[in-house]
Amino acid sequence: MTRHYNFCAGPAALPQAVLERARDELLDYQGRGLSVMEMSHRSPEFTAIAEQAEADIRELLAIPDNYRVLFLQGGASMQFAMLPYNLLGQGGTPNYLYTGIWGKKAISEAKHLAGAHVAASSEGNGLTAVPRPEEIQLSSDAAYLHYTANETIGGLEFDYIPEVEVPLVCDMSSSILSGPLDVSKFGVLYAGAQKNIGPAGLTLVIVRDDLLECARPETPTMFNYKVMAENGSMFNTPATYAWYLAGLVFQWLKHDVGGLAAMNAINDRKAAKLYAAIDASGFYSNPIAPRNRSRMNVPFVLADEALNAPFLAEAEAAGLLNLKGHRSVGGMRASLYNAVPEAGVDALIEFMTDFEHRRG
Ligand SMILES: Cc1ncc(COP(=O)(O)O)c(C=O)c1O
Repeated sequence: MTRHYNFCAGPAALPQAVLERARDELLDYQGRGLSVMEMSHRSPEFTAIAEQAEADIRELLAIPDNYRVLFLQGGASMQFAMLPYNLLGQGGTPNYLYTGIWGKKAISEAKHLAGAHVAASSEGNGLTAVPRPEEIQLSSDAAYLHYTANETIGGLEFDYIPEVEVPLVCDMSSSILSGPLDVSKFGVLYAGAQKNIGPAGLTLVIVRDDLLECARPETPTMFNYKVMAENGSMFNTPATYAWYLAGLVFQWLKHDVGGLAAMNAINDRKAAKLYAAIDASGFYSNPIAPRNRSRMNVPFVLADEALNAPFLAEAEAAGLLNLKGHRSVGGMRASLYNAVPEAGVDALIEFMTDFEHRRG
């Protein structure tokens, strides 16, 4: 068996140690004679799995006690709609920062319900730099400010956390757990799991207690954070196996990696060496302002577009998978999530350098 290096933007690489443990426990979970997939979500075994996962992510992110951790479904895209339902009970206008495609989708969902004010935008610089703090202009009736910490498609990442008087909401789908985070600065944080948390099918939401009281009255039950919090994210059947795997990823981060500070240092190194290789070449380029270059998603283009297809074919033959850029932007994209080992980045750089020498 050969496992290749997987640079997919999501569903993304999972740590090999996690997959091995899941394999070992697949048919017979800890001597119970059945798989986690086959257990009732209300069984003592699954309750223990769910509680351990929550305890571990609380420890990893040092989540304060006045925050609830929800393990939901529907992906980050469902949060685009759930959020305005949950935070606009007292009226007001949702405010957004626009820095890329995902932020735009979030804005569009809020608009359906309540309109939206764009408090700052990266449109003027072609989505290559995030707005500076002083450019953020909230509307006078702002109910919250939403931003996308890391635009997965554009490869654009915030280098600061906005400071505002209203609840701060963040789509952290593609950067959560990439390093330590001050959760107390946020009202709501959410992330689809399929990048740094686990497999697709699970959505993590971290919400401050007081905001559980802010839902609009017509909020559908399944959309209501308070209902989900009061029911331990088990108002209906949760994504049990994805929750279990996320728990294994949290254990891996704690015990194998040594926590988020250690993960942060590895991520810094991986991204720095790939950007350095791109900048040093006359053949590859990345358009993002250096201070906002994403550590998780590194888009780059080749000097000659006609070489895209051979680049991808040769990369795949060399065991470097899923380097094709998003269909909306073209070019290449290497996603360097937590589970992509540093050796994978080294192999990618070696391949890119060799390809440039031969074909550039
Ligand atoms: C930043 C960001 N937000 C939202 C989404 C949408 O996530 P989902 O497919 O879980 O709805 C993605 C998916 O890649 C993303 O990268």
